Amino acid sequence: MLRRLHPEQPESFAFTAANQQWAEAQITKYPEGRQASAVIPLLWRAQEQEGWLSRPAIESIADMLGMAYIRVLEVASFYFMFQLQPVGSVAHIQVCGTTSCMICGAEDLIAVCKEKIAAKPHELSADGKLSWEEVECLGSCTNAPMAQIGKDYYEDLTAESFGKILDDLVAGKVPTPGPQNGRYAAEPLKGLSSLSEYEAGKPKYNASVELATELGDTVKRIDGTEVPILTPWLGKDGKAEASGSAPQPPKKPEPGKTAAQQSGTKKSTHTEPASPEGAAAKSDSPEVQETQPNTLTAARDGKADDLKLLKGVGPKLEETLNELGFYHYDQIAAWTPEHVTWVDARLKFKGRIERDGWIEQAAKLAAGEETEFAKRAKSEGTYED
Ligand code: FES
Repeated sequence: MLRRLHPEQPESFAFTAANQQWAEAQITKYPEGRQASAVIPLLWRAQEQEGWLSRPAIESIADMLGMAYIRVLEVASFYFMFQLQPVGSVAHIQVCGTTSCMICGAEDLIAVCKEKIAAKPHELSADGKLSWEEVECLGSCTNAPMAQIGKDYYEDLTAESFGKILDDLVAGKVPTPGPQNGRYAAEPLKGLSSLSEYEAGKPKYNASVELATELGDTVKRIDGTEVPILTPWLGKDGKAEASGSAPQPPKKPEPGKTAAQQSGTKKSTHTEPASPEGAAAKSDSPEVQETQPNTLTAARDGKADDLKLLKGVGPKLEETLNELGFYHYDQIAAWTPEHVTWVDARLKFKGRIERDGWIEQAAKLAAGEETEFAKRAKSEGTYED
């Protein structure tokens, strides 16, 4: 099956405030410069929120992690668990079609999906509430045939019980997950042959079903408010500390001003440039060690260098650099450590200038040489013009 972006895409994507806080907290799990490691959790949370991964969602996560869009799309399109097309607004049904389930009637369940949802997998039902697909073994073979709906397993299904579950979902109910034939868990169909002394006094449902019914969120989209956001790796109290301290992207400056001028930041002073080349200015704050590099109000002769040929700079970051007043390789090649501190403070994620060696790369490109990355990027088309 080809896994591509859906032809119809929403205009934009945004995490809910709580999910945003959760995502920022996840990013802090990883060492500086390794934020890309959070790509799968963030993609997964976006899918939990929206039901599927749209292009704006993929790009928004790429921006959060400072990754090229294509790299995040590669991850999203590689794993089948990521849905690249809209799913049912109520639920996406995943019917196991592997050996045990197939022998025990998975094909009957798929026939129900075709009849009640849509003729083909990944198509929405007429009312848009349900969608379905066949998946590989979900590890519940003893309770075959089965289907995963939302976050829970519905097991020991028949065409009839499965059809009733789908009807209930469409009617706004959340059917109780677990075995649907009266079985408690995965004990023998003919009843317990051992440990029968524990039969009396057992809870109504097995542990998985009990938790599912307690949470009651089988098919609920996750908006981040479900559980407290815990970040024990940040401190002993385990409270989320990422939100509010997350680096903010630089604001778009007014024409003729750098972001620093516009925001009136106290981190550095700035001398109004007498020519397109801005003059360097030292910080007047003793505790901040940064110096603003030369910036431009526009590219020289209206022709900016392609900063995406620097490893680690994607379209979004190039836009940010342009907004800060950097359009040319020679500008970046001339950065001193104090300049790097200034620029770093205005990027979403710190440390990437040094980590990716922007200055060395820029010096080569400014001198008309090629870098390995630039060569590869041009031949693979992994950057956007
Ligand atoms: S074969 Fe269906 S859950 Fe394993």
